[in-house]
Amino acid sequence: MMRDTPHRPYSVFVSGPAAPGLTVPAPRPPSASVAATSLGVASLLMEQLLDHSPAVVTHSLRVARHAARVASRLPGDPWRGRESEVYAAALVHDVGKINEPLDILLAARPLTAIEYACIKDHPFHGVALVRRYAAVSPLLEDAAWGHHEWWDGSGYPRRLAGAEIPAIARLVSLVDAFDAMCENRPYRAGMTPAVALLEIERGAGTQFDPSLVDIVLRHNLLRDG
Ligand SMILES: [Fe+2]
Repeated sequence: MMRDTPHRPYSVFVSGPAAPGLTVPAPRPPSASVAATSLGVASLLMEQLLDHSPAVVTHSLRVARHAARVASRLPGDPWRGRESEVYAAALVHDVGKINEPLDILLAARPLTAIEYACIKDHPFHGVALVRRYAAVSPLLEDAAWGHHEWWDGSGYPRRLAGAEIPAIARLVSLVDAFDAMCENRPYRAGMTPAVALLEIERGAGTQFDPSLVDIVLRHNLLRDG
């Protein structure tokens, strides 16, 4: 798995001035005991996000539950002992949406091209927020930064491909898409879990890690929706 080096080209995006109206809020100073755990930091960030968009928090809670359940059922138990990190990483994947305007987040219609471009900034904002806490698992940063990358390299923001995409980001990408497809939106009804899984299967090798899709489908890891 490729990890970022200390001299990352994208640092200019997370350390430079925020765009007008997109100010990154100063975090509340956490106690040492809370900040020391990834779950504690994830909870703090969700508390802040709740003030901005409860809908994003409820989505994030479902994604975290899906991710933890899939991770715990994967053959070979690759995430053994890191269940809390997986849950926390999935929980914060969309925390950067705290800086997205509500009229875009709550739009009861498909987004315009400009609005979609604005939403695509949320991984930048998310990784900036997570990096404020030194004690957290690197999985949190990987999930916030990488959950919109596509297996074929056509995702965003870094256009990583294949195994360049951290494993946690590949997992969160899949369960995030599953939850989004099942969710009712003002302009469309949500899919049933069975139909959403067919869409996941269609995205194997393009949007999603094909081996992860194969395991999820073969072992019915999202059977409970
Ligand atoms: Fe996202």
